[in-house]
Amino acid sequence: MKAEPQTSPLKGQNLSGEARNEALSGECSRDRTVRTRSSEVMTESSVGLSRRSVLQAAAGVLAASLAKVADAAEVGGRSVRASRSPDSVATASDPGPARQMEIYRGGLTGAKPAVPIAFEDLERKAQEAIKPEVFGYIQGSAGNGASSRANVTAFERWQILPRFLKDVSKRDLSVQFFGQRFSAPIMLAPIGGVLGTIHPDGEVAVARAARGAGIPMMLSTLSSKTMEAVAEALQDTPRWFQLYWPSDRDLTASFLQRAERSGYRAVVVTVDTKFLGWRETDLQNTYYPFFAGHGLANYFSDPVFRRGLRSKPEDNLPEAVTHWGNAFRNPTFSWADLKWLRQQTRLPILLKGILHPDDARKAVDHGAEGVVVSNHGGRQLHGVTPSLAALPGIAKAVGQRIHVLFDSGIRRGSDVFKALALGAKCVLLGRPYAYGLAVAGEVGVSEAIRNVVADFDLTLALAGCASIAELNKQYVSRV
Ligand code: FNR
Repeated sequence: MKAEPQTSPLKGQNLSGEARNEALSGECSRDRTVRTRSSEVMTESSVGLSRRSVLQAAAGVLAASLAKVADAAEVGGRSVRASRSPDSVATASDPGPARQMEIYRGGLTGAKPAVPIAFEDLERKAQEAIKPEVFGYIQGSAGNGASSRANVTAFERWQILPRFLKDVSKRDLSVQFFGQRFSAPIMLAPIGGVLGTIHPDGEVAVARAARGAGIPMMLSTLSSKTMEAVAEALQDTPRWFQLYWPSDRDLTASFLQRAERSGYRAVVVTVDTKFLGWRETDLQNTYYPFFAGHGLANYFSDPVFRRGLRSKPEDNLPEAVTHWGNAFRNPTFSWADLKWLRQQTRLPILLKGILHPDDARKAVDHGAEGVVVSNHGGRQLHGVTPSLAALPGIAKAVGQRIHVLFDSGIRRGSDVFKALALGAKCVLLGRPYAYGLAVAGEVGVSEAIRNVVADFDLTLALAGCASIAELNKQYVSRV
């Protein structure tokens, strides 16, 4: 595989030296030590700066900084301002502490994060922001949702075993895949069907946020924007294309060619969706976004797909949706087909949805370059094993030979830490960013990403690791 030019870590997130010094003066410099606690008590500085003048200075800097920013999003008629300014965001080497200070500094002028910090609050706010059936589609899972909840509680059965007295002043969060460097071991998961319903810019808004945060994106086949439009918004941000393997091989080949042409660097075949899971919430709401043509831009724009229609999708939606239904459902797809796929593309192939070590071994035998250990966020199979429970066995079986990625249940930094300690090389962030989009559009996605990255950076440091390369099973214990 040809080496790719490396993208800069956390691109666009550098706190300029000047802004940083100004903003932190009177707060963190040795001469003017002012400590903040969660109670917001600030002590007087050793050089005699009064508490009031420190607050005024800091607030002045912050106000100036905020004035430079027109970073507001219109969501549902409400204006949501980001706690981000172009020059006051997390740095590549220090994203955790930089983000903390950015948020606490906002408090000096009374600003509270508009995009909730805690996942549970973010989910609640998203629920208020969008229609119940759309929220139900995102939050809902197979059956009564127990499998999705189990993904989250599985993380509570593993706890972190920190090591102390190590130099963690500089942390390396970066990870390399197929010649491209990611700034952190976090990617955006493919989320199909609803992003364009939540927000008019859909996946393009997500792509802009991913670019701003320097976090790669895995785009769903079921996107409301074409893969070309999303690629354009991502610019040089790394991207992979998630493939729901169509029943029509010509259409599959066409998707692959388009993905290659528009700079996607891997194809991720989702293997767990031969049929749609039995989703009680969606069934009760009779909500199926695809009937309305949502999430089908990659199909409707495809020359092979269009060849199979009598009229254009723009003129005859029912015909196009029926044609899509036939193309989408592919229950015969099996291991033997991977050989054909391998011949169609130069891109590395990963399989998403693997939960058994034997399937992971088969993936290696069939030429896959990676697997994503995932149960689709519990959306496909009610009663399925929690994704985290499957991870150690799969990492042990194939982790030395191919890339092992993980998703389902990643909500905060400690989850990323535990998944990496248990053998994942990188994790996918799913529902948190969809909720961010619902709450505040591009800004909401950006904040959701940056909070998880910052939390992970701090978790790494506090657990005594200067690099994700150090992470292994010795940093966690099962309780
Ligand atoms: C998904 N997921 C998904 N996966 C995939 O391969 N292609 C897709 O189009 C979609 N679409 C989709 C829609 C919605 C609304 C959700 C919530 C999820 C699954 C996704 O990539 C990922 O595996 C899960 O989101 C992980 O679970 P958590 O961490 O989000 O709970």
